[in-house]
Amino acid sequence: MNDAEALKKIAGEAACEFVKTGMRVGLGTGSTVKYTVLELGRRIAEEGLEIVGVPTSFATENLATEVGIPLVELGSLDDLDIVIDGTDEFDPSFQLIKGGGAALLREKIVAQQSAAMVVVADHRKQVDCLGAFGIPIEITPFACDVTVSALSSLLNCKVELRTSEGKHILTDNGNCIADAQIGPSITDPISTEAMILNVAGVVQVGLFNNMCDAVVLASESGVSTLMNPDGRL
Ligand code: 5RP
Repeated sequence: MNDAEALKKIAGEAACEFVKTGMRVGLGTGSTVKYTVLELGRRIAEEGLEIVGVPTSFATENLATEVGIPLVELGSLDDLDIVIDGTDEFDPSFQLIKGGGAALLREKIVAQQSAAMVVVADHRKQVDCLGAFGIPIEITPFACDVTVSALSSLLNCKVELRTSEGKHILTDNGNCIADAQIGPSITDPISTEAMILNVAGVVQVGLFNNMCDAVVLASESGVSTLMNPDGRL
Protein backbone atom coordinates (compact mmCIF):
# COMPACT_ATOMS: atom_id res chain seq x y z
CA MET A 1 0.00 0.00 0.00
CA ASN A 2 1.47 3.40 -0.97
CA ASP A 3 1.52 6.43 1.33
CA ALA A 4 -1.61 8.07 -0.14
CA GLU A 5 -3.55 4.84 0.24
CA ALA A 6 -2.32 4.40 3.80
CA LEU A 7 -3.63 7.89 4.69
CA LYS A 8 -7.04 7.06 3.22
CA LYS A 9 -7.14 3.90 5.31
CA ILE A 10 -6.23 5.72 8.52
CA ALA A 11 -8.90 8.40 7.99
CA GLY A 12 -11.56 5.94 6.84
CA GLU A 13 -11.08 3.64 9.80
CA ALA A 14 -10.77 6.41 12.41
CA ALA A 15 -14.19 7.81 11.45
CA CYS A 16 -15.82 4.59 12.63
CA GLU A 17 -15.40 5.93 16.18
CA PHE A 18 -18.50 8.03 15.49
CA VAL A 19 -20.62 4.93 14.84
CA LYS A 20 -22.38 3.22 17.77
CA THR A 21 -24.76 0.28 18.00
CA GLY A 22 -28.31 1.13 16.98
CA MET A 23 -27.31 3.83 14.51
CA ARG A 24 -28.70 4.30 11.03
CA VAL A 25 -25.64 5.16 8.95
CA GLY A 26 -25.29 6.76 5.54
CA LEU A 27 -22.42 5.17 3.64
CA GLY A 28 -20.62 7.51 1.26
CA THR A 29 -18.77 6.73 -1.94
CA GLY A 30 -15.09 6.77 -2.86
CA SER A 31 -11.68 5.35 -2.18
CA THR A 32 -11.37 6.83 1.34
CA VAL A 33 -14.78 5.95 2.74
CA LYS A 34 -14.25 2.47 1.33
CA TYR A 35 -12.08 1.87 4.40
CA THR A 36 -14.93 3.03 6.66
CA VAL A 37 -17.25 0.49 5.05
CA LEU A 38 -14.66 -2.28 5.43
CA GLU A 39 -14.06 -1.40 9.09
CA LEU A 40 -17.79 -1.26 9.88
CA GLY A 41 -18.14 -4.70 8.30
CA ARG A 42 -15.30 -5.96 10.49
CA ARG A 43 -16.87 -4.51 13.63
CA ILE A 44 -20.22 -6.13 12.79
CA ALA A 45 -18.56 -9.52 12.29
CA GLU A 46 -16.08 -9.38 15.16
CA GLU A 47 -17.47 -6.99 17.76
CA GLY A 48 -21.23 -7.38 17.46
CA LEU A 49 -21.83 -3.83 16.21
CA GLU A 50 -25.49 -3.50 15.17
CA ILE A 51 -26.27 -0.87 12.55
CA VAL A 52 -28.19 -0.46 9.34
CA GLY A 53 -26.67 1.34 6.38
CA VAL A 54 -27.92 3.37 3.45
CA PRO A 55 -25.46 3.36 0.53
CA THR A 56 -24.94 6.37 -1.74
CA SER A 57 -23.99 4.41 -4.88
CA PHE A 58 -24.16 0.97 -6.45
CA ALA A 59 -20.42 0.59 -5.78
CA THR A 60 -20.89 1.20 -2.05
CA GLU A 61 -23.99 -1.00 -2.00
CA ASN A 62 -21.96 -3.87 -3.47
CA LEU A 63 -19.07 -3.40 -1.05
CA ALA A 64 -21.34 -3.05 2.00
CA THR A 65 -23.24 -6.19 1.01
CA GLU A 66 -19.96 -8.08 0.57
CA VAL A 67 -18.79 -7.16 4.08
CA GLY A 68 -22.14 -7.91 5.71
CA ILE A 69 -23.59 -4.48 6.54
CA PRO A 70 -27.40 -4.77 6.61
CA LEU A 71 -28.79 -2.23 4.14
CA VAL A 72 -32.16 -0.50 4.05
CA GLU A 73 -33.91 1.93 1.70
CA LEU A 74 -33.62 5.55 2.78
CA GLY A 75 -37.40 5.88 2.34
CA SER A 76 -38.03 3.23 5.00
CA LEU A 77 -36.42 5.44 7.68
CA ASP A 78 -37.45 8.85 8.99
CA ASP A 79 -33.85 9.99 8.99
CA LEU A 80 -30.26 8.86 9.56
CA ASP A 81 -28.08 9.36 12.63
CA ILE A 82 -24.93 10.01 10.66
CA VAL A 83 -23.40 9.86 7.21
CA ILE A 84 -19.71 9.26 6.65
CA ASP A 85 -18.43 10.31 3.25
CA GLY A 86 -15.34 11.43 1.39
CA THR A 87 -14.70 14.81 -0.20
CA ASP A 88 -12.70 16.28 -3.04
CA GLU A 89 -12.03 19.55 -1.21
CA PHE A 90 -13.00 21.20 2.07
CA ASP A 91 -12.41 24.81 3.05
CA PRO A 92 -11.90 26.51 6.46
CA SER A 93 -15.70 26.90 6.81
CA PHE A 94 -16.22 23.16 6.27
CA GLN A 95 -17.86 23.73 2.87
CA LEU A 96 -17.20 20.90 0.45
CA ILE A 97 -16.75 20.03 -3.18
CA LYS A 98 -17.89 16.47 -3.86
CA GLY A 99 -18.75 14.36 -6.87
CA GLY A 100 -15.35 13.23 -8.08
CA GLY A 101 -16.83 9.75 -8.05
CA ALA A 102 -20.04 10.94 -9.77
CA ALA A 103 -22.22 10.01 -6.79
CA LEU A 104 -23.05 13.54 -5.67
CA LEU A 105 -26.83 13.40 -6.08
CA ARG A 106 -27.34 10.35 -3.87
CA GLU A 107 -24.66 11.61 -1.49
CA LYS A 108 -26.45 14.92 -1.07
CA ILE A 109 -29.87 13.32 -0.56
CA VAL A 110 -28.40 11.04 2.11
CA ALA A 111 -26.46 13.90 3.76
CA GLN A 112 -29.62 16.02 3.81
CA GLN A 113 -31.44 13.27 5.75
CA SER A 114 -28.63 12.80 8.26
CA ALA A 115 -28.42 14.32 11.73
CA ALA A 116 -24.65 14.65 11.28
CA MET A 117 -22.07 14.42 8.50
CA VAL A 118 -18.50 13.25 9.11
CA VAL A 119 -16.07 13.60 6.23
CA VAL A 120 -13.00 11.42 5.77
CA ALA A 121 -10.04 12.95 3.95
CA ASP A 122 -6.31 13.19 3.68
CA HIS A 123 -4.44 16.49 3.85
CA ARG A 124 -4.50 17.00 0.05
CA LYS A 125 -8.23 17.75 0.28
CA GLN A 126 -7.78 20.72 2.64
CA VAL A 127 -7.84 24.05 0.75
CA ASP A 128 -8.07 27.74 1.57
CA CYS A 129 -10.50 28.43 -1.24
CA LEU A 130 -12.68 25.88 -3.06
CA GLY A 131 -12.50 25.31 -6.81
CA ALA A 132 -9.14 23.93 -7.95
CA PHE A 133 -10.71 20.49 -8.24
CA GLY A 134 -13.51 21.84 -10.45
CA ILE A 135 -17.20 21.63 -9.62
CA PRO A 136 -18.92 18.35 -10.56
CA ILE A 137 -22.45 19.00 -11.84
CA GLU A 138 -25.02 16.29 -12.60
CA ILE A 139 -27.16 17.23 -15.61
CA THR A 140 -29.95 15.65 -17.63
CA PRO A 141 -28.92 13.75 -20.76
CA PHE A 142 -31.54 15.76 -22.68
CA ALA A 143 -29.76 18.65 -24.39
CA CYS A 144 -26.72 18.13 -22.19
CA ASP A 145 -24.53 20.15 -24.57
CA VAL A 146 -26.90 23.10 -24.27
CA THR A 147 -26.79 22.88 -20.47
CA VAL A 148 -22.99 22.68 -20.53
CA SER A 149 -22.74 25.79 -22.64
CA ALA A 150 -25.22 27.66 -20.39
CA LEU A 151 -23.08 26.71 -17.38
CA SER A 152 -19.92 27.78 -19.14
CA SER A 153 -21.39 31.25 -19.85
CA LEU A 154 -22.75 31.56 -16.33
CA LEU A 155 -19.51 30.61 -14.58
CA ASN A 156 -17.22 32.09 -17.20
CA CYS A 157 -15.05 28.99 -17.30
CA LYS A 158 -14.55 25.77 -19.21
CA VAL A 159 -17.24 23.17 -18.48
CA GLU A 160 -16.78 19.68 -19.89
CA LEU A 161 -18.85 16.53 -19.89
CA ARG A 162 -17.05 13.67 -18.19
CA THR A 163 -16.34 10.89 -20.68
CA SER A 164 -14.77 7.49 -20.81
CA GLU A 165 -13.62 5.93 -24.10
CA GLY A 166 -15.43 8.68 -26.00
CA LYS A 167 -18.79 8.14 -24.29
CA HIS A 168 -20.53 10.26 -21.69
CA ILE A 169 -20.16 8.83 -18.22
CA LEU A 170 -23.58 8.18 -16.76
CA THR A 171 -24.29 8.41 -13.04
CA ASP A 172 -26.18 5.73 -11.09
CA ASN A 173 -29.25 7.86 -11.85
CA GLY A 174 -28.72 7.70 -15.63
CA ASN A 175 -27.67 11.35 -15.87
CA CYS A 176 -24.56 12.97 -17.36
CA ILE A 177 -21.88 14.60 -15.28
CA ALA A 178 -19.95 17.74 -16.15
CA ASP A 179 -17.00 19.43 -14.47
CA ALA A 180 -16.69 23.22 -14.26
CA GLN A 181 -13.01 24.23 -14.20
CA ILE A 182 -13.59 27.36 -12.18
CA GLY A 183 -10.26 27.42 -10.34
CA PRO A 184 -9.67 28.17 -6.65
CA SER A 185 -11.99 31.17 -6.70
CA ILE A 186 -15.21 30.16 -4.91
CA THR A 187 -15.41 32.76 -2.17
CA ASP A 188 -19.18 32.39 -1.71
CA PRO A 189 -20.05 28.72 -2.24
CA ILE A 190 -23.65 29.23 -1.11
CA SER A 191 -24.46 31.70 -3.88
CA THR A 192 -22.43 29.67 -6.40
CA GLU A 193 -24.51 26.60 -5.53
CA ALA A 194 -27.79 28.52 -5.88
CA MET A 195 -26.71 30.06 -9.19
CA ILE A 196 -25.83 26.67 -10.70
CA LEU A 197 -29.01 25.01 -9.43
CA ASN A 198 -31.00 27.74 -11.19
CA VAL A 199 -29.94 26.48 -14.64
CA ALA A 200 -32.56 24.24 -16.27
CA GLY A 201 -31.00 20.87 -16.95
CA VAL A 202 -28.96 20.87 -13.76
CA VAL A 203 -30.03 18.02 -11.49
CA GLN A 204 -27.59 18.72 -8.64
CA VAL A 205 -24.25 20.35 -7.98
CA GLY A 206 -21.33 19.04 -5.95
CA LEU A 207 -21.12 22.00 -3.58
CA PHE A 208 -22.12 20.72 -0.12
CA ASN A 209 -22.70 23.78 2.02
CA ASN A 210 -23.40 23.81 5.76
CA MET A 211 -23.61 20.03 5.90
CA CYS A 212 -20.26 18.88 7.27
CA ASP A 213 -19.90 18.68 11.05
CA ALA A 214 -16.42 17.17 11.30
CA VAL A 215 -13.49 16.14 9.12
CA VAL A 216 -11.39 13.14 10.08
CA LEU A 217 -8.12 14.18 8.50
CA ALA A 218 -5.07 12.01 7.91
CA SER A 219 -1.60 13.39 7.22
CA GLU A 220 1.96 12.19 7.62
CA SER A 221 1.83 13.32 11.25
CA GLY A 222 -1.21 11.15 12.05
CA VAL A 223 -4.96 11.50 12.21
CA SER A 224 -6.90 14.36 13.74
CA THR A 225 -10.55 15.32 13.84
CA LEU A 226 -11.46 18.88 12.94
CA MET A 227 -14.80 19.80 14.52
CA ASN A 228 -16.96 22.41 12.81
CA PRO A 229 -17.63 25.01 15.54
CA ASP A 230 -21.01 25.69 13.92
CA GLY A 231 -21.75 21.99 13.43
CA ARG A 232 -24.12 19.55 15.13
CA LEU A 233 -21.59 17.32 16.85
C1 5RP B 1 -17.96 10.70 -4.91
C2 5RP B 1 -17.36 11.64 -3.95
C3 5RP B 1 -16.17 11.17 -3.17
O1 5RP B 1 -16.52 11.12 -1.83
C4 5RP B 1 -15.03 12.09 -3.41
O2 5RP B 1 -14.78 12.12 -4.81
C5 5RP B 1 -13.77 11.65 -2.66
O3 5RP B 1 -13.37 10.43 -3.13
P1 5RP B 1 -11.97 9.78 -2.72
O4 5RP B 1 -12.06 9.44 -1.28
O5 5RP B 1 -11.87 8.58 -3.63
O6 5RP B 1 -10.91 10.79 -3.04
O7 5RP B 1 -17.78 12.76 -3.76
O8 5RP B 1 -18.98 11.30 -5.65
